Amino acid sequence: MPYQPADVAYDHYSKPLNFQQWLDAHSARLQPPVGNQQIWKNADLVCTVVGGPNERTDFHDDPYEEYFHQFKGNASLLIADRGKFERVHLREGDIFLLPAHVRHSPQRPEPGSLCTVVERNRPVGSIDAFEWYCAACGGLVVRSELQLTSIVEDLPRTYTAFYDSAPAERTCAHCGEVHPGRDWRSWHARCAEHFPNTAAAA
Ligand SMILES: [Fe+2]
Repeated sequence: MPYQPADVAYDHYSKPLNFQQWLDAHSARLQPPVGNQQIWKNADLVCTVVGGPNERTDFHDDPYEEYFHQFKGNASLLIADRGKFERVHLREGDIFLLPAHVRHSPQRPEPGSLCTVVERNRPVGSIDAFEWYCAACGGLVVRSELQLTSIVEDLPRTYTAFYDSAPAERTCAHCGEVHPGRDWRSWHARCAEHFPNTAAAA
C-alpha cells in the first residue's frame, strides 16, 4: 500500500479519458489553422496533442524539459546549437526527451500526423524565449523573451511581432542576410543550402 498522508484528500481527480475518443472529439482542432489542443486545463503538467501540417522558423527556448511521443505519422525537430543546426527525426512511434533550454523548432510536414507533447507549467519568473536564426550563417537574429501564461494566446502575438517587423530588424548582424519572416519555405531552403545536414529528406 503506497504512503498516503492522512490530511490529503484523494477525491480531486477526474476520470481517465479514452485517448482515441478524446482525439476523435478534438480532430477539428488538431489540424490547421489551430493545430494543437491541451488535454487538461490548470494542471502542472501541460499535456497537449499537436497535429500537422505545420512548419515554421521560430526556435523555442523552454526553461524546462519537453517530452514528445510521435504516435502518428512523422515529424522532426530542428535544433539550433552554437551557430549550427541539426535535425532530430521523430518517426512514428518514437518518444523523445528534450532537455531544458535546447533551442528547437518542430517541423510537422505531414497532414494528419499527431504527437503528444508534455511540458511543465511555467511558474512566475521562469522565462521562455522564441528565437529566429540566420539560415546563411547560423547567427541569432532576434530573441523575444516572455513569461508564458497561455500557449494559445501568447505565442501568436510573439510570432506576429517578428513577422511584421521591418526587414532591417530581421537582418543578420553577422552576415547581412535578411530573415524572410513568416516565409518558412524560403528559410528552410536557405538553411538546407548552407547546412546540408538539415535537409528534410531522411
Ligand atoms: Fe547571418
